Amino acid sequence: MQIKKVKFRDVEKMAKLHLETLPDISSSIGLSAVTKLYKLIFNTPKIHSCFSAWEDGEFLGFVVISKNMDLTHKLFHEIFSIKNVIVLSFMIITFKVSFLRIVNRIFFEKKLTKIIGKNYCCISTICVNEKYQRKGIGKLLLIEALKDIQKLKNKRLYVYTRFDNKKALNFYNKFGFKKIGVFYSGVVFKYSL
Ligand SMILES: CC(C)(COP(=O)(O)OP(=O)(O)OC[C@H]1O[C@@H](n2cnc3c(N)ncnc32)[C@H](O)[C@@H]1OP(=O)(O)O)[C@@H](O)C(=O)NCCC(=O)NCCS
Repeated sequence: MQIKKVKFRDVEKMAKLHLETLPDISSSIGLSAVTKLYKLIFNTPKIHSCFSAWEDGEFLGFVVISKNMDLTHKLFHEIFSIKNVIVLSFMIITFKVSFLRIVNRIFFEKKLTKIIGKNYCCISTICVNEKYQRKGIGKLLLIEALKDIQKLKNKRLYVYTRFDNKKALNFYNKFGFKKIGVFYSGVVFKYSL
């Protein structure tokens, strides 16, 4: 198994794996919008680092580290073009996406800024192909992410996930992240480097 820096040609693989493993609001806007998000992430190397896990030519997982999560949120909001807002509205009307979930997310981000302030590092996404989960790949990706963050001056590292994402909650707990708050369906963890 190898951990490598993500190359531009891997961006669509990241987007596909994101859609397969993370049923969040971003996933509901579809592959092309999520691919666009990862292209923006890839093209901002001063803010983001991306590492991938491979075995025998197969893409098994990836991690995205944001060195400034406020800017990452801005990129995320940018992909919500009129077309995507229409798609999302349609999904809300047809009950494919919960309106409450979207409202919760908006309030969560506002409260988050109040609690942890601005200018912090974050594991913005970590995904492992379901077939290969629980084999230590997430751990290897996390170790690579932590090594990368160690090099920075800004060492305030947080991560958040939904309260019902059991795998992620256990994962962060297991690897030393400390829960610092739960609000609007989100759980916030801090990691002391
Ligand atoms: C979270 C995730 C990246 C972990 O990857 P992984 O390769 O399975 O992680 P590891 O094998 O290194 O670590 C396993 C630990 O994570 C936790 N964990 C992983 N899958 C779990 C599951 N299905 N149920 C409970 N705990 C789980 C456990 O603490 C586990 O340790 P254990 O096997 O000793 O009990 C993976 O589950 C995933 O891709 N989830 C979907 C995407 C996601 O929710 N990402 C996080 C938010 S961005």
